[in-house]
Amino acid sequence: MRILGIETSCDETGIAIYDDERGLLANQLYSQIKLHADYGGVVPELASRDHVRKTVPLIQAAMKDAGLNAGDLDGIAYTAGPGLVGALLVGATVGRALAFAWNVPAVPVHHMEGHLLAPMLEDNPPAFPFVALLVSGGHTQLISVTGIGEYTLLGESIDDAAGEAFDKTAKLLGLDYPGGPMLSKLAQQGTEGRFTFPRPMTDRPGLDFSFSGLKTFAANTIHGNGNDDQTRADIARAFEDAVVDTLAIKCKRALEQTGFKRLVMAGGVSANRTLRARLAEMMQKRGGEVFYARPEFCTDNGAMIAYAGMVRLKGGTSGELGITVRPRWPLAELPPVA
Ligand SMILES: Nc1ncnc2c1ncn2[C@@H]1O[C@H](COP(=O)(O)OP(=O)(O)OP(=O)(O)O)[C@@H](O)[C@H]1O
Ligand SMILES: [Mg+2]
Repeated sequence: MRILGIETSCDETGIAIYDDERGLLANQLYSQIKLHADYGGVVPELASRDHVRKTVPLIQAAMKDAGLNAGDLDGIAYTAGPGLVGALLVGATVGRALAFAWNVPAVPVHHMEGHLLAPMLEDNPPAFPFVALLVSGGHTQLISVTGIGEYTLLGESIDDAAGEAFDKTAKLLGLDYPGGPMLSKLAQQGTEGRFTFPRPMTDRPGLDFSFSGLKTFAANTIHGNGNDDQTRADIARAFEDAVVDTLAIKCKRALEQTGFKRLVMAGGVSANRTLRARLAEMMQKRGGEVFYARPEFCTDNGAMIAYAGMVRLKGGTSGELGITVRPRWPLAELPPVA
């Protein structure tokens, strides 16, 4: 089975073709980061217009890379939510229209299920059950996963997502949007322990997170200690250590609560090297295993949508002719796949 995946939920146009026997046949990604950089964040209307410009040429390029013609596909998967409504509508409309023209099923995909399943694209895919840590620009969630579509939310951020906290703190440190990866790079030059940031909500039971206080803590630390290069690096280090520590503490709790031995991390922040190392060390000590995707499949991409679409199509999901996108869409609402 061969599926074309279309991702346009935010500021990346991602197009990929996945073949269940041969793996990934094509993967095209266009990032709008430069377009939004002047505004310090994603401008929804500009994002939609850029997806309109890029989606069809990238599909053409992916088909060419894979050496395929229209008749060679078995389905077209598109991100139907959650995300920016105008941006979602571009991918959904192109995907649905192409599927109609090529007489194949169209499969609406949940963006976070895409992230969650991205580690399945790697050589050593996780078996069920596992605890998933979804850490991205818009989500911080711990989920119990017992099968495809068998998702129970264990805890989530009550305010900023982890990626959002990285980006906001990076901005305070004078780094460009999205600053998460650059903050992490700066933190490598930082002195461990010069500053200590709080580990929010770890002093009480439960699996929820709160990251909005960390940017205020960062702002106050900058204010009180100046803004020279070493101080900025030390603040970045203290911030990253606090986020990683907090995520690790809650992952450990979720593993104890569920009794699961496997931990899957997904979403943009799962590309963070300090977090990966910390969770790998923790799982080794616990006699378990951690799984994550290669860095380019942690952030938004078409491959994860093609893969999730294939799993869903095999499970009997296919969209109607009318197009519906869902800017908000809880993951736990997805039906299980037998
Ligand atoms: N190495 C890194 N360290 C920390 N944060 C990172 C790193 N790489 C990416 N990020 C963060 O990941 C986020 C982008 O991830 P992703 O593309 O999964 O999010 P999104 O699609 O915007 O949100 P969502 O998937 O929740 O809709 C940004 O906040 C970015 O700063
Ligand atoms: Mg995403």
